[in-house]
Amino acid sequence: MENFFISTAISYTNGPPHMGHAYEVIAADVIARFKRLEGKNVFFLTGTDEHGLKVQKKAIGLGLSAQDLADQMSKNFVEMGKALNCSSDDFIRTSEERHKVAVKEIWLKMKKNGDIYLDDYSGWYSIIDEAFYQESELIKGESGIFFSPNNNPVEWLEEQSYFFRLSSYEGKLLDLYEKNEIFVQPKSRMNEVRNFVEGGLKDISISRKGLEWGIKVPDDEGHSVYVWVDALTNYISALEWPNDKSLFNDFWPGNLHLIGKDIIRFHAVFWPAFLMSAGLEIPKQIFAHGFILNKGEKMSKSLGNIEDPMSLIKNFGVDQLRYFLMRETPFGNDGNYSDELLINRVNADLSNDLGNLSQRCLTMVKKNCNQSIPQKNELNNFDLELLKSVDQKKDIIINLMSNFHINSYISEVFELISNTNKYFSDQKPWDLKTLDNDRMNTVLWVTCEMLRRIGILLQPVIPSGSSKLLDFLLISEEHRLIKFISDDYSLNSGKPIKEPEIIFPKIELKK
Ligand code: MSP
Repeated sequence: MENFFISTAISYTNGPPHMGHAYEVIAADVIARFKRLEGKNVFFLTGTDEHGLKVQKKAIGLGLSAQDLADQMSKNFVEMGKALNCSSDDFIRTSEERHKVAVKEIWLKMKKNGDIYLDDYSGWYSIIDEAFYQESELIKGESGIFFSPNNNPVEWLEEQSYFFRLSSYEGKLLDLYEKNEIFVQPKSRMNEVRNFVEGGLKDISISRKGLEWGIKVPDDEGHSVYVWVDALTNYISALEWPNDKSLFNDFWPGNLHLIGKDIIRFHAVFWPAFLMSAGLEIPKQIFAHGFILNKGEKMSKSLGNIEDPMSLIKNFGVDQLRYFLMRETPFGNDGNYSDELLINRVNADLSNDLGNLSQRCLTMVKKNCNQSIPQKNELNNFDLELLKSVDQKKDIIINLMSNFHINSYISEVFELISNTNKYFSDQKPWDLKTLDNDRMNTVLWVTCEMLRRIGILLQPVIPSGSSKLLDFLLISEEHRLIKFISDDYSLNSGKPIKEPEIIFPKIELKK
């Protein structure tokens, strides 16, 4: 069985999870579930990034220890994952022992390779970004104060620091991008990364003096490892590197790091350079998704427009939130959230197009076919054309997901739903009941078979609704993989079905 490793970024524990975090976990979960449906052996990793000044500062402000704050917040992230129906295989916390061991080891390997040296650092640092900046990268505010490219405060730092020889990886990185043009996706992000490296790389500071809440530099307790060296190593510490090689051998190099567009440089420049230095393999691909905005504006505490994913799940349902976020925006672009947008989308697609189709068809099956899969009689051209449309589209649909065009994947599946709705209305099985019972049975069989195929394809996106749909048809767990979307596995007439229920009740817009 082919292995597939996918990870999200690990989230800072300086605050509770928000929509951006939910968005990333949902997208990674959709991809992970899809790969499983393709028959792959998936390792899906997520977790929390707990060290560094940002978390330490927040904890001090709250009168907590950084560990206590991390414990609390990390629990919130685990709970959000569960509530989102996230099928992750592991949740790594950077304060875990297995992680610390790996960070120390990668440091020692980079040092042994001659890539780490001690020098004096002077420059700008943003605690919120946990990033060092060149003055040329900063934005000058109205009062002459500098801000980071993300509009966060920066402070001037002068301290002794360990450096990583990033400058000597310029050529190797450009080589990597040339050999693997899809290393970073979408393409525009690959160009952004290439331009950055072509502009010249400077060595980077990789330790902080006096940072208490961090992993100590091996053989120099006065320094802590820079939080990004620490955080990036999670992808291999979770695979038990360097201690136990079995998971690591199976799943590394990882297939996909799914991250937000703001942290692309760390993943596509720093991380491969660290790995090359440590003599480890480079992940196969990085996908940078866009940001979720609130009616076009960045979500922020000061604007008071932060949406809490847990309340949205409670108000609208988990499939509904997943569906909206994945359907509304091309993956890679920024997307917008508003209750109205979600309600309209969910009512139109899930309640009307999919929900009504399944309810109308299965209720007729219950009433007229002894609650069993209807008799399939001779198929006419309309039936064959509809069923064939799935065979014709299957490869295209699979390809869309393989290239992370999640929203196009969904719209293709919904085109199948819309064609099935049209077929159902045109064939009028309710009229056929008295006119031609055999034909009614066939039309219902074709519609049930379409629901089976559609149900299989929608599992990654709306796992709970599609599992209900497949349960109605009594499709066994083992028969829900993509490969079962074929005539060879079509429904057997006479097999009982479960009592149908409404899967996606309409959401009322509260005034
Ligand atoms: N801890 C670092 C990542 C280290 S990975 C080795 C970090 N944490 S974060 O909590 O700030 O962000 C976690 C992920 O959420 C990142 O991929 C980030 O891009 C993403 N998002 C944060 N806000 C977001 C939105 N508003 N919308 C979509 N994703 C956003 O960065």
